[in-house]
Amino acid sequence: MSKKIFSGVQPTGNLHLGNYLGAIKNFVELNNDKENDCIFCVVDLHAITVKQNPKELKNNIRETVATFVASGIDPAKSIIFNQSKVTAHSEAAWILSCTARTGWLSRMTQFKEKAGKDKEKASVGLYSYPVLMAADILLYDSTHVPVGDDQKQHLELCRDIAQKFNNDFGVEDFFKVPEPLIQKEFSRIMSLKDGLKKMSKSELSDLSRINLTDDTDQIINKIKKAKTDPLPMPTNKEELDQRPEAKNLIGIYSSLTDIKIEKIINEFSGKNFSEFKENLAQVTVDKLQPISTEIKKLLSEESFLDQILLEGAEKADKIATNKIKKIHEIMGF
Ligand code: AMP
Ligand code: TRP
Repeated sequence: MSKKIFSGVQPTGNLHLGNYLGAIKNFVELNNDKENDCIFCVVDLHAITVKQNPKELKNNIRETVATFVASGIDPAKSIIFNQSKVTAHSEAAWILSCTARTGWLSRMTQFKEKAGKDKEKASVGLYSYPVLMAADILLYDSTHVPVGDDQKQHLELCRDIAQKFNNDFGVEDFFKVPEPLIQKEFSRIMSLKDGLKKMSKSELSDLSRINLTDDTDQIINKIKKAKTDPLPMPTNKEELDQRPEAKNLIGIYSSLTDIKIEKIINEFSGKNFSEFKENLAQVTVDKLQPISTEIKKLLSEESFLDQILLEGAEKADKIATNKIKKIHEIMGF
């Protein structure tokens, strides 16, 4: 059976190695499988849950599309569009917010992390963010959702919303209950400065992440400066659980090269980190350099990027509007 794939990425700038290994690399593989129908959405409505500068947002939307295409997503095969251009997303989010329970939303750890200490000052949108995400997914009858590990809880909420809606209105199977597609190993890439914190766009120090637009020197420098513990390279897999920084760097190496962890450990066992880091920098540059060169080239072709979004939105709108019509009938509107 063909899979219906949906995923979203926020256009908030600084797309990094975590986004690439946790999500975009997977998108490309799914795009390449002829059996799949894929939709990749630039979720600009999610971005505005925290303050955005409109001019920067516009650039970041284009940069996200450029990153998709430069990484290997083919706009002729997969739908690429930005969320705000298909108004069904906002409408479905409202309707589904009447299905979702506040108790469910209160348990979302991402909200707690993002809102920080002063929860009263967080936007209502930041709180209801996962409902909009559920709307994104459910409007397209998506069967599979590739995301990084940090989005697992939001997907579970989406599944709960779909099931409750179907039950409440007696419409079995109306909303498809989607499956998450999360990498089994190293689904969460950690900060280069702290092996216990995820690599993130919003982290203040740029040294904590490798951006997809970093040049060769920046990549080499960031890996050289990456935090490690004082011991030499681990000699077995069990050691990794006690050594988060070593685990993260070896995980990045493995994800970039598809070489098994055990093999990497054997090769570098007991050696100095500096030797491993030189190798890691090389494989990172080899993988990211062609992508970053292509991103820069595409960014100079604004009308090409805008055309991709326009055509994508037209295709997405047809599917979503059709689903909204059916939702109206079910609701009694
Ligand atoms: P975002 O940039 O927050 O919209 O995230 C886009 C995609 O990248 C989502 O599927 C996230 O789960 C994934 N992602 C973000 N940060 C990381 C990370 N540090 N490790 C793995 N995946 C990540
Ligand atoms: N919340 C996701 C993130 O921050 C982005 C997102 C929005 C998404 N809508 C989605 C991911 C639908 C998958 C499916 O990474």
